[in-house]
Amino acid sequence: MSERWVPLDVSDVDPSPFVQFQRWFEDAKGEMTEREAVALATATGDGAPSLRMVLLRWHDGKTFGWYTNYESRKGRDLAVNPRAALLWYCEPLGRQIRIEGAVERMSSLESDAYFDARPRGSQLGARASHQSQPLADRDELEALVEANAQEFAGSPVPRPTYWGGYRLTPTGFEFWQHRDSRLHDRVVYRLEGSQWIRERLAP
Ligand SMILES: Cc1cc2nc3c(=O)[nH]c(=O)nc-3n(C[C@H](O)[C@H](O)[C@H](O)COP(=O)(O)O)c2cc1C
Repeated sequence: MSERWVPLDVSDVDPSPFVQFQRWFEDAKGEMTEREAVALATATGDGAPSLRMVLLRWHDGKTFGWYTNYESRKGRDLAVNPRAALLWYCEPLGRQIRIEGAVERMSSLESDAYFDARPRGSQLGARASHQSQPLADRDELEALVEANAQEFAGSPVPRPTYWGGYRLTPTGFEFWQHRDSRLHDRVVYRLEGSQWIRERLAP
């Protein structure tokens, strides 16, 4: 057994899945080049799934958040089906975390605060990109960036209404630890009322 693959039992995890998430996220510090990268799964109103990476920019012990374009494919999915799943994988430690729940937009004030703290290039990029819409070519995108740069020359770049944050309020978690001979450890948390119930699943 690799000494990195620490056994995981129901009695090892914190009663709070948020504390357990924080523990594993901290353990991954220095282990990964993009520790915040998570896969985000959404689905259309009739259940067709899609998946992409986003950066996890927020976790406050109650919710998990990311920022994006509200008119993107994921934004359109979330407008009609406000539920999502997040997946985080830390290869060096052989760990996977699944999080599922209900999604809502962050408030305008919260999105403004994050947007205002972004580098100017990212702000112009967010304004210029009609994410997930067809583009004729790269020049069209660069022309849109340039038009925005001229429009806001010498002044702060305002957050466009089509860009902002989402937060997911979890209803379920799974912590997966790699073990030898495919006998991995899996501990799930599900919400019963306001109580988090933990149990082990077969690998
Ligand atoms: C590591 C990584 C991080 C990313 N982070 C974000 C992000 O935080 N927000 C975002 O809108 N897109 C991010 N992207 C791009 C998305 O994966 C995706 O291409 C984009 O959001 C459009 O997805 P959609 O058409 O399904 O809406 C990231 C891509 C990678 C590979």
